[in-house]
Amino acid sequence: MRRVAFARSLLCAAVLAAIALPASAQRTLGFDSYAMPQGGTIAILVGEGDAAMAAATAALDADTRDSINRAMESARFTGKADSQLDLPGLGGFDRVLLVGLGAGDVSLRALQNAGGRVGQFAAGSAAPRIEVLWNGEVADGASHLAHGAAMGQYRFGKYRTVIEGPATGQGELIIRTRAGGAAGADYRAQWQPVSNAVRFARDLVTEPANVIWPQTFVDRTREAFASVPGVTIEVLDVPAMERLGMGGMLAVGQGSARPPRLLVVRYQGGRAGDAPIALVGKGITFDTGGISLKDRDGMWRMKYDMSGAAAVTGAVLALAGRQAPVNAVAIAALAENMPSGTATRPGDVVRTMSGKTFEVISTDAEGRMVLSDAIWYAQDRFKPRLVIDVATLTGSIVTALGDEYAGLFTRDDALAAQLESSGRAAGEEVWRMPLHPSYAHDLRSPIADLRNTGVSGAGAGLGAHFIGEWVLPGMQWAHLDIAGMAWRESEGTATSPAGATGFGVRLLDQWVRDHYE
Ligand code: BES
Ligand code: ZN
Ligand code: MN
Repeated sequence: MRRVAFARSLLCAAVLAAIALPASAQRTLGFDSYAMPQGGTIAILVGEGDAAMAAATAALDADTRDSINRAMESARFTGKADSQLDLPGLGGFDRVLLVGLGAGDVSLRALQNAGGRVGQFAAGSAAPRIEVLWNGEVADGASHLAHGAAMGQYRFGKYRTVIEGPATGQGELIIRTRAGGAAGADYRAQWQPVSNAVRFARDLVTEPANVIWPQTFVDRTREAFASVPGVTIEVLDVPAMERLGMGGMLAVGQGSARPPRLLVVRYQGGRAGDAPIALVGKGITFDTGGISLKDRDGMWRMKYDMSGAAAVTGAVLALAGRQAPVNAVAIAALAENMPSGTATRPGDVVRTMSGKTFEVISTDAEGRMVLSDAIWYAQDRFKPRLVIDVATLTGSIVTALGDEYAGLFTRDDALAAQLESSGRAAGEEVWRMPLHPSYAHDLRSPIADLRNTGVSGAGAGLGAHFIGEWVLPGMQWAHLDIAGMAWRESEGTATSPAGATGFGVRLLDQWVRDHYE
């Protein structure tokens, strides 16, 4: 009897193991020559205009081509960018997906977006093999198509025990282009590390706060970097932060049972003596607001308040994964902002590592508190060539820019132009916002050097100004407020399904490609 029960529980465990999917399973990507498959499920990329539409289906047999042409006509599918047409049971195929590429020269971003649509389609399909056809030639085109497909496939299924619909992430996705099988090597060396890093960031952001807190964020990071060469990881715990006088980090973390951490990930891909770029991220693993408690509505979403930390850590994972020729350091300011008997109170005065003090007006303005120490530490320890911080800092940037642009704050016009242009290329755009000198006036405190919130309405700018108070004179610095970009509630984009976006990984990787390679 007991033996039977034991055997049955073993069997159950085996079945569970068989159906349990990893947090985000992916189809295996393959690359092949441009040739029409004989059947099965396919996706065809179609440009706008008669010539482009004819070229897209040129390799098909006449019957199938006719059916597709009729379907396109009656569905008024014209190959416009961001359009698609799903045709089940067509000709000899189980399913044909047409994806619009838009008019004119095909940009890498358009290919990435088309790939994203194919990826989303693939994630919801039970077909063991899906073949994607693109009858065009652009340098790096096939890699970008694959990169988009990898990002569009993203699903987080870890906590579902009942899987509805087809099991996702199973099977193959074959990219058939004129670049042929050779495109695979470029993809694996140059772009797969980036889609992996985006997935790493999305997983961390999606995980709830009872799974990811400062120490488990560190653990996950160590796992992700385990086999990546050229990387060293260091972690400051509470005693280390106390020795350094990191009052900002400690003030935010002190209300939580889960102590704060400052995570430092260094990647040496450039020359030994070259100053690194410092990427500093806000890593509030949950933001209740602290004693200045947030409203109950939507508070659950504040698990994503560590998206900046995920973005900078992910960016370094991408750079190291593709062995970029640059020195970079990611600094993740990790803390949980909780109300409790040991929490920081409004009115408390905090002394930061730099010696500068501030008065806590709102414990809900905690991002700037942890960043004050993290930014100071980055400069003090690494003497970087520049500092970029990434943070879900303010609700006010969401009001200003919605979910189209991250807010970019910098006093450096050249750096602003660089980030704007790399953002456009990567499909993660930024919009420059002002840093008016009057913000200094708004942040004056009667008893400390600064207060952590101001009186004027420019909430995002005041937050940025506060952070800038810890940047050394002459240091190049940019602040990205990604509060509106890190999470998409109901509708995703082609390369980013609803939920965690991993915003910042692609932008920072692209910016390094554009300016350091
Ligand atoms: N994490 C929030 C900002 C936020 C809001 C991110 C909405 C994503 C979506 C941040 O810590 C915060 O609470 N900011 C306050 C600042 C205020 C107290 C000056 C805000 O924006 O209201
Ligand atoms: Zn916050
Ligand atoms: Mn807050």
